[in-house]
Amino acid sequence: MRSDLAPVAELSLTRACGLPLAHFRPEHVAEQIARACAREHVADQAALARRLARDGVARTRFRRSVAISHGAIFRDPEQFQLLERVLLPRLLEDGRRVTTWSAGCADGAELYTLGIVLERMGALDRALLLGSDLLEENLATAREGRYEGHEMPSEVRLRVRWEQRDLVEDGPPAGRWRLILCRNVAIYFTPAARRKLYETLVGALATRGVLLLGRSERLLDASSLGLRPVAPHAYERVR
Ligand SMILES: C[S@@+](CC[C@H](N)C(=O)[O-])C[C@H]1O[C@@H](n2cnc3c(N)ncnc32)[C@H](O)[C@@H]1O
Repeated sequence: MRSDLAPVAELSLTRACGLPLAHFRPEHVAEQIARACAREHVADQAALARRLARDGVARTRFRRSVAISHGAIFRDPEQFQLLERVLLPRLLEDGRRVTTWSAGCADGAELYTLGIVLERMGALDRALLLGSDLLEENLATAREGRYEGHEMPSEVRLRVRWEQRDLVEDGPPAGRWRLILCRNVAIYFTPAARRKLYETLVGALATRGVLLLGRSERLLDASSLGLRPVAPHAYERVR
């Protein structure tokens, strides 16, 4: 993590918030610490650690801000158009199930949106939908399945599963995934954590499976990971 942070304060903040801060970009962590100090009216990082250790609400606020935990139904609609018109038809054409993993699913909106798209395509019953996130508090929101007062369709709710998982430390869920969405997760990671993340995702991807990143993300070294670009921000596993 940042070399200009006092090591003791750094350690105690990591312990107090329970997040692997060292995996996030130092500038991002520093910005979130500064914001949290102002929000919680504390003088410095050591005082922030003490506050987070005893105040669960402040701790959740800090965790959600460092992990950037928001999503939205049909966020970046052009990516769902790409899924509906190009990527999913290709995955569905051989009649097999589309095992889908939303890695870093935040509050679950991304995976519900995919479920709605699959339902519209008449393919929901051929899908297995898993969402995983670092934060248990995000998964609690995902399990509720309600966004801005709108409840997600029951057919989709019945299809989704949620689990807590650190994408850098824990590795992938069991199985081979034919579609992995990992949008807007790596942008907050250090280069080392990002590399580990991509290796984890590729290791979990079935041959000819597709990895879709966020609309500001691209892989510079796709071929060294055994991937080839197939559409904007989308990569297919070739071996
Ligand atoms: C900006 S949100 C992206 C949500 C969704 N993929 C989207 O684009 O709409 C980033 C999510 O990544 C999760 N995250 C961050 N670090 C993680 C890690 N090491 N393991 C698993 N999830 C992580 C955060 O908790 C957060 O929910």
